[in-house]
Amino acid sequence: MLAYRHAFHAGNHADVLKHLVLVQVLRYMARKDKPFTLVDTHAGAGGYSLEGRYAQTKAEYEQGIARLWSRGDLPPALADYVALVKQFNGGDGLEPHAVQVAFEQYPGSPAFAHLLLRPQDRLRLYELHSTDHRILAAYLGAQANTQVTQGDGFAALKAELPPPSRRGVVLIDPSYEIKSDYGKVVGALREALERFAEGVVMIWYPQLATLESAQLPQRLQATADAQAKKGWLHVRLTVCQPDARGFGLIGSGLFIANPPHVLHDALAPLMQYLVDVLGQYDGAHYLLEQRAA
Ligand SMILES: C[S@@+](CC[C@H](N)C(=O)[O-])C[C@H]1O[C@@H](n2cnc3c(N)ncnc32)[C@H](O)[C@@H]1O
Repeated sequence: MLAYRHAFHAGNHADVLKHLVLVQVLRYMARKDKPFTLVDTHAGAGGYSLEGRYAQTKAEYEQGIARLWSRGDLPPALADYVALVKQFNGGDGLEPHAVQVAFEQYPGSPAFAHLLLRPQDRLRLYELHSTDHRILAAYLGAQANTQVTQGDGFAALKAELPPPSRRGVVLIDPSYEIKSDYGKVVGALREALERFAEGVVMIWYPQLATLESAQLPQRLQATADAQAKKGWLHVRLTVCQPDARGFGLIGSGLFIANPPHVLHDALAPLMQYLVDVLGQYDGAHYLLEQRAA
């Protein structure tokens, strides 16, 4: 029985980092006409009400997207991401500073993909939770070139990779509610690169005060060092401190094997801005590192 529901966390600081980077990667993939496939192994519901009971429980979006929503000084890549969130809320998708757009919903990774993929691209969405799968299937199940499957996203890599055009992105975004997810993402990266050594593989992870979380980036780096044709990039944003009991999401990271070669330089000017705007204490900071193949 899965207890995790992403609706509790939609639009928080971790979603901001994850979706900002996803938008950058998908924009890069769309620079060439040749089709590509996005496999989203842990897709969630596709979109979330910010006014609903779940999102309001801790109102995590207030420390995330809400801090960017009305700013007039967004760097261009962040303005692009915020404009897409506003487009999901009925805006025109062009105006990041539009103040009249109602702030009611937050798009999940499938929604960003739906906004950015072209008619020739393919979208493969996997979600295990029956309720979230039902919502996702109702939202995107009838779209062309899109498949929504209720199933284990880790197991799906075998069937999905390599994609027919040999251009593709895999987003692996588990909830880590079970500790075995840490080992599974390392295995999934290994399997994805065995099947598709030049594929872009994005792995999100939570920054927690636990050994598993602290050790994960090195485990992913070792795998990518051995197998990724075009190296890797690691970005992490730390916004707060653990609570009094030593628990809580203090930040999050993304590890990307075979990243677009422009990604490091695209993120570099944004990260201090994110620290300044999303940081919740004086020690907020970021890490941005890469290794070329
Ligand atoms: C962090 S959320 C995904 C958020 C989504 N990628 C986004 O950015 O909007 C993780 C999701 O994975 C689902 N899940 C958990 N284990 C899974 C598995 N083995 N395969 C597919 N989905 C799984 C959970 O039900 C949850 O909806």
